[in-house]
Amino acid sequence: MAQKTPTLQDYEDHISHLFAQEDEALRLAREDTHKAGMPPISVSATEGKLLHVLTRSVGARRILEIGTLGGYSAIWLARALPAGGRLVSLELDAHHSEVAEKNIGRAGLSKVVEIRVGDGLASLAKMTAAGEPAFDVAFIDADKEGYPDYLDAVYPMVRTGGLILADNTLRLDAPPAAGIPRYNAAVARHPGLNSIIIPVLRGDGLDGLLVSVKTGA
Ligand code: SAH
Ligand code: DHB
Ligand code: MG
Repeated sequence: MAQKTPTLQDYEDHISHLFAQEDEALRLAREDTHKAGMPPISVSATEGKLLHVLTRSVGARRILEIGTLGGYSAIWLARALPAGGRLVSLELDAHHSEVAEKNIGRAGLSKVVEIRVGDGLASLAKMTAAGEPAFDVAFIDADKEGYPDYLDAVYPMVRTGGLILADNTLRLDAPPAAGIPRYNAAVARHPGLNSIIIPVLRGDGLDGLLVSVKTGA
């Protein structure tokens, strides 16, 4: 008997059922982000788990995120940290940051996650000037036109052997912001990065996570 063609949502549900079930804190973080009037653009559960596993795989103790929204991806990332680990998340919008603080608090991660409100690029410049210690993982997920500048700023802040991850790098169904193809091309030719785009499921759609291992100094 012919089977019904599975949808992308069916694949997302299949993988998340096995490997990426949301607990109460994650479910409420997603719901409250939406209730607070923010767009439903958090990473999916399966992409959240991918971020978590990648972070674990490099033994990360320090994570940098650019683009907090309601803190959904921050929870997946911060849960990959050992005791004493830290996630610094940069967010432009003070209202987003407030909602994220609540969601992160409910997940018991207030002492692990620090949100810095302001323009991401300006915050990165301040951190560099202040001698911020190196990060093991950086996750770029803020304004798409800013991606190429975020790459330049973040590269020196990540240790050799660490990861630079970038969301929304495989949108073929809609014209992406020009910053995305520029970011992808810059990463592809970067001599200090070894990279691949991993397609990721987004409910009933597809997007990508560009994963780069820093091989240079
Ligand atoms: N990482 C989140 C989703 C982030 S959505 C998750 O998956 O759960 C993108 C976020 O980037 C929004 O909250 C937006 O306010 C923020 N943003 C946009 N421009 C920014 C900038 N210049 N600096 C820092 N954050 C910015
Ligand atoms: C948008 C931003 C995101 O980070 C995302 O994952 C999906 C969409 C957006 O700005 O449209
Ligand atoms: Mg995104």
